[in-house]
Amino acid sequence: MKITMVGTGYVGLVSGVCFSDFGHEVICVDKDPAKIAKLEAGEVPIYEPGLDALMARNVAAGRLSFTRDLAAAVDGADAVFIAVGTPTRRGDGHADLTYVMAAAEEIAAALTGYAVIVTKSTVPVGTNRQVARVIRKANPAAEFDVASNPEFLREGAAIDDFMRPDRVVVGVQSERAKEVMGGIYRPLFLRDFPVVYTDLESAEMIKYAANAFLATKITFINEIAALCEKVGADVKSVAHGMGLDGRIGNKFLHAGPGYGGSCFPKDTQALARIGQDHAVPMQITEAVIKVNGEVKRRMTDRVVDLCGGSVNGKVIAVLGVTFKPNTDDMRDAPSLTIVPALVGAGAKVRVVDPQGRKEGEALLPGVKWVEDAYQAAHGADAVVLLTEWNEFRALDLKKLARKMETPRMADLRNVYSPKDAKKAGFETYISVGR
Ligand SMILES: NC(=O)c1ccc[n+]([C@@H]2O[C@H](COP(=O)([O-])OP(=O)(O)OC[C@H]3O[C@@H](n4cnc5c(N)ncnc54)[C@H](O)[C@@H]3O)[C@@H](O)[C@H]2O)c1
Repeated sequence: MKITMVGTGYVGLVSGVCFSDFGHEVICVDKDPAKIAKLEAGEVPIYEPGLDALMARNVAAGRLSFTRDLAAAVDGADAVFIAVGTPTRRGDGHADLTYVMAAAEEIAAALTGYAVIVTKSTVPVGTNRQVARVIRKANPAAEFDVASNPEFLREGAAIDDFMRPDRVVVGVQSERAKEVMGGIYRPLFLRDFPVVYTDLESAEMIKYAANAFLATKITFINEIAALCEKVGADVKSVAHGMGLDGRIGNKFLHAGPGYGGSCFPKDTQALARIGQDHAVPMQITEAVIKVNGEVKRRMTDRVVDLCGGSVNGKVIAVLGVTFKPNTDDMRDAPSLTIVPALVGAGAKVRVVDPQGRKEGEALLPGVKWVEDAYQAAHGADAVVLLTEWNEFRALDLKKLARKMETPRMADLRNVYSPKDAKKAGFETYISVGR
């Protein structure tokens, strides 16, 4: 099949590359000339493990190409995917659909024959019908259907998630569109991965409901963690004991500095807005948003407490700033709340992150970037472990402590044990919920 992917960010690029690996002919479009220039030169503009090799293989096989020319890419396509950003709209929390609707208009003008226009971006209920209206208005003669195909991949494990999904969700309103979508996902269907067909509205809702549920699970354990600290319980044991219950499951029960990233913050906010608009307030989701903000602020307070009540003039080494390991994505990362608060309170912050510097330099003014954890810890008053990259999971704690002015650690990902930290020479070690 011939597929056009509009938007080659984390979702569009991974989806485009994986579709080409299924054997489809894929053209990826982006309006960012720098991105397309890189892709044409064989470079991957984002950090996503394994993506470079898979991309190179499919470009070499002649199934995958990149362009800025949307009209040429849409010509003759069986399906055109919209995978552009849907950030939070300034001021009101709604998903900003400007990019989606602009893409729909451009696609409409370029349609030459029947195609399914598939929204992969995360969009509020009703958006696919709006996309259809925009296309019909811009090109009344166009022959098309719309389909909703929300994406569930996780950055850092995106290829595996796309190739071995828990499920694929497809919202359609015609048999013809269902056939095209079935053809696209046939390689997964043949390997018994569930493809769930539903109506447009349900598909759109599944994505928000799933993300809000996961954000709730994380926030729940973060709130339990705060209580564990007060009552002398260990949140790791609590999560383990809870998670073994098959009805609960052990995923997303790791206490930490609050959820961040490109999806949960904006999608929970958007769902809350959708609820308000329909006079069905999403009270649980609203509470989750509030509590998550408090969790992030609580982490800053804990670091200040660790430093004896003030960080003014103190040297603080921050290990990891991306919102999670194995990505260079900094969108809504907890570091963007915690690090500026420390800098604002007078701390001299040193930062180390295997992939975060490119994005992070502009987002975290006033910090010093260093190459590794030991360099960051040299002469420091505290180490804060904020993102659990593998290289921060197996630190030589003794060596780290020895380098420091005062060996204190805030392990906000519960990577180490209080016993090991003490044994290594840390005079104070705090973590989350223990
Ligand atoms: N990042 C994730 O982990 C993830 C996971 C699931 C779903 N999603 C959803 O997928 C969507 C895309 O997210 P992302 O993280 O890939 O965004 P992104 O910001 O990384 O990429 C969006 C890309 O679209 C391009 N673009 C915008 N308008 C365009 C146009 N008219 N023509 C061509 N290109 C255009 C931009 O230049 C950019 O490269 C969002 O709705 C997001 O909620 C993201």
